[in-house]
Amino acid sequence: MLGMETKEILHMTKGDGEFSYASNTTTHKRFTDTMKPILEKAIRPLMLAEVVRPGNVLRVADLGCGVGPSPITFISTIQEIVDKIYKQRDLGDYQVMPEIQIFMSDLPSNDFNLLFKDVGKLQEGGQKEEDDDNKPLLFVMGAPGSFYERLFPSNTLHLVHSYYAIHWLSQVPRGLCDKVGEPMNKGKIVASDTSEPQVLKAYYAQFKQDFTKFLKCRSREVVHNGYMVLATICRPSMQPFEPRSMKYLSQALACLVSKGIIKEEKLDSFDLPVYHACKEEIQEIVSEEGSFAIEHLDVVISKVQNEINDVRLKAESLAKITRSYSEALIADHFGAQVWNDLYNVLYHIILEDFKLDAGPSDIFNIVIFLRKMID
Ligand SMILES: C[S@@+](CC[C@H](N)C(=O)[O-])C[C@H]1O[C@@H](n2cnc3c(N)ncnc32)[C@H](O)[C@@H]1O
Repeated sequence: MLGMETKEILHMTKGDGEFSYASNTTTHKRFTDTMKPILEKAIRPLMLAEVVRPGNVLRVADLGCGVGPSPITFISTIQEIVDKIYKQRDLGDYQVMPEIQIFMSDLPSNDFNLLFKDVGKLQEGGQKEEDDDNKPLLFVMGAPGSFYERLFPSNTLHLVHSYYAIHWLSQVPRGLCDKVGEPMNKGKIVASDTSEPQVLKAYYAQFKQDFTKFLKCRSREVVHNGYMVLATICRPSMQPFEPRSMKYLSQALACLVSKGIIKEEKLDSFDLPVYHACKEEIQEIVSEEGSFAIEHLDVVISKVQNEINDVRLKAESLAKITRSYSEALIADHFGAQVWNDLYNVLYHIILEDFKLDAGPSDIFNIVIFLRKMID
């Protein structure tokens, strides 16, 4: 990676153009069903047990917030939940609505400008304090940085949320080459079902190191009895498993090798800093780290591109999403011009596959609900 660190290169494709992340992501479509009930389960006891005292500030962070509809849905969901709980008036002394401070956090290269334009639209019309029907006051701020490092002062956050982000590693695992420096994951770009066992081990070791660091940093930042609600893409079992968008991407890159557009060695030395953990691995890491109790942990299956009937549009949707998350890393390794050919090849590979089996495909998501235990 030309000596640059992953955190300096990685970002979802910026702006709101044809291939941007904001225009193509579909994560928000799965957000409300999966996440809203769990966020409510976290916020209710925070308000009832007066972890957040009446009239005080509920401090929330969205880590790996990205840009587009998903972070905006998150912000409005938090406001709705606090409003609903407050207005149910079953909170004893709770006569003063808490104010909400939400920190939107991502790597500095995230498109924060677009994100805050969208936040501005959400808050259009301003916020009012006076009458009883108003929503809780919302203060949204940026907190750029890596979630594998400290981001907030000690004991300040009541609730941490992260959606579709913690499968991104801090770096491509070291140890993907053998003793003589030959790449071991040739032709593949993640830990896949056909990768060598050493490759799978190296990826898991990197994930374990990163996720442990994530938990340690958050354990300093989250208050006692505060919560974390994390969800991301996962493997359905302990067996290796490659999500289909990554399979299509590696097939498309291999096709460019066969056309002589990229060199085979270049593909052999390319791997994505992404790991899809399984439930058992997450459980083990959380319990070994020891700061958080698992309140609930579940694998939720969602069907994707379900709502699109036309097979061409369905293929285009997946090709664009795949490009929007991988564009920066691929451009850094192969050169940005590779996308002139890669996108079309990717689209046609997906289309041919969808024509054979146009049914919806499953995405496996792990949802993790954690409570910060005493230090
Ligand atoms: C697939 S996007 C998800 C964005 C958003 N949460 C959503 O649901 O649409 C993953 C996000 O994680 C961010 N990310 C990856 N590694 C990160 C890190 N170490 N620290 C902070 N953010 C990170 C990326 O920049 C990206 O915005």
